[in-house]
Amino acid sequence: MSEAISTKLNLDLISDRLCVADFGCASGPNTFVAVQNIIEAVEDKYRNETGQNAADNNVEFQVLFNDSTTNDFNTLFQTLPPGRNYYTSGVPGSFFNRVLPKHSFHIGVFNYSFHFTSRIPNGIMERDSPLWNRDMHCTGFNEAVKKAYLDQYSADTNNVLDARAEELVPGGLLFLSGSGLRDGVKMSETVKGIMMDFIGASLNDLAQHGVINQDKVDSFNIPLYFAEESELRQIIEENGKFTIEAFEEIIHANGEFPLDPKILAVSFRSFFGALLSAHFGVDTMRKVFELVEVKAREEFSRIQNAKPGLQYLIVLSKK
Ligand SMILES: C[S@@+](CC[C@H](N)C(=O)[O-])C[C@H]1O[C@@H](n2cnc3c(N)ncnc32)[C@H](O)[C@@H]1O
Repeated sequence: MSEAISTKLNLDLISDRLCVADFGCASGPNTFVAVQNIIEAVEDKYRNETGQNAADNNVEFQVLFNDSTTNDFNTLFQTLPPGRNYYTSGVPGSFFNRVLPKHSFHIGVFNYSFHFTSRIPNGIMERDSPLWNRDMHCTGFNEAVKKAYLDQYSADTNNVLDARAEELVPGGLLFLSGSGLRDGVKMSETVKGIMMDFIGASLNDLAQHGVINQDKVDSFNIPLYFAEESELRQIIEENGKFTIEAFEEIIHANGEFPLDPKILAVSFRSFFGALLSAHFGVDTMRKVFELVEVKAREEFSRIQNAKPGLQYLIVLSKK
């Protein structure tokens, strides 16, 4: 992101104010690190190009924190980093729609919030539909289910891009960092898909032991779609409002995920725990992830032999 700001941000866009917007900011603290890095990269560029500090030239920074209306904005604002050099505003509302006036911000970011769909696709939750999906997600065996999710994701993401194109100043930048799939790799072949299958299997175990109702398990689907690289490129290109300046795979020194059953269970609890708690309650969610850890231990060779997934950073500039 720093490199993209250094090479792609046009300082002419900034007169006395630079505004950063984080879409799907949650309640912290990741968002504070993300926006601080962006602001520091802008300050560095400003210093390198003008020989002056942005602050000395009366440039002020503002951060707009967006998330759903149900997000814990109180925690977010109560834990803002002391000594920060930016003003803040909360922007509650769904990023599938416009949430800001035209030309409100210069740099926008979606960190791990670009995988959401606005709803579960039609047919997925209806027992008599050919698209009925008992699993909690499309892990890749059923092409028709995958297509239903992809169609929903494409339509929703087109709306996300249309709304941001209105809200972003011309020439502004949009960063998308998230999780996806390499072309041709099925979700079920990756660590992410295998872990999601373990979550589904653990829910079924609890239903078989009478702890939860099987209908409740069958009606659980998650509003996420992890797109393949070519699908992401196609959606952005067909939308037409942005130029893809960079599409990079983020390579972590220790691999995509630490290959340890306990750490994997804790990590996936942090990704999916809130969605499970909302549908089944916290107690069931906790039991599920205890079982997930056992399954990850028992079937560790599946995890070790999984195909790599994709963690990406996409840099877009508004046309
Ligand atoms: C996985 S969290 C990522 C949080 C944070 N960006 C980070 O990197 O840690 C995804 C966030 O996206 C938010 N989100 C999902 N759908 C949204 C929507 N339609 N509008 C606004 N926020 C949404 C969720 O509420 C959640 O806080």
